[in-house]
Amino acid sequence: MQQPVVVQHPLAQCHLAAIRAVGTSSHDFRRHLNHLARILFIQATSGLPVQPTQVQTPLAQTQGAQLARPLVCVPILRAGLGLLDGILPLVPEAVVAHVGIKRNEETALPHAYYANLPASLPEADVFLLDPMLATGGSACEAARQLKEAGAARITLICVVSCPEGLAAMARTHPDIPVFTAAIDDGLNERSYIVPGLGDAGDRYFGT
Ligand code: PRP
Ligand code: URA
Repeated sequence: MQQPVVVQHPLAQCHLAAIRAVGTSSHDFRRHLNHLARILFIQATSGLPVQPTQVQTPLAQTQGAQLARPLVCVPILRAGLGLLDGILPLVPEAVVAHVGIKRNEETALPHAYYANLPASLPEADVFLLDPMLATGGSACEAARQLKEAGAARITLICVVSCPEGLAAMARTHPDIPVFTAAIDDGLNERSYIVPGLGDAGDRYFGT
């Protein structure tokens, strides 16, 4: 089992504070979440292998680099799209796969309603994206689907996590590293993260 990586970059912590604040508008929530996603993604990709290339500068030839393996981003619909928007400008060549999962509001159990996964998963570095890791049910189910489709190198990026969700991931998918900006106190009686930031999808999309 791997310990979660808590990204404590000062800019990440400032953007996190902004999206936590109840008075932050959807417009600003989007902007801060996009920036935060980018910082988390840079940390989460820091160990990716590159292969050397030759680059001709205006003055000379020198060595460059390109990612050694294809990269696949997988936002968990809906709220994971908020991370994707921040990340894609950094890796425009990435393939985007989708997994649709909605928590049942009474039971908090994940209901999987959609998946569109590419054939390139087995050879790719796969980044599973969701702002919230609460019970962990949604992320565990998404990771299960990705592995069933052949993914072998999965990393989970979640903005706010909590001990319950991290324990579920460690129990079910001990091979998957988790990058997060915060490990909050825990879940309330409705399985929302406390202090958390509320409903990430509703705040991002303004619903
Ligand atoms: C939220 C969030 C995660 C999930 C986390 O999505 O974006 O996907 O809940 O909870 P869990 O760890 O207990 O599974 P939600 O189901 O509300 O759907 P949405 O993205 O469409 O708003
Ligand atoms: N989903 C959210 O959007 N927020 C939580 O706190 C828990 C699940």
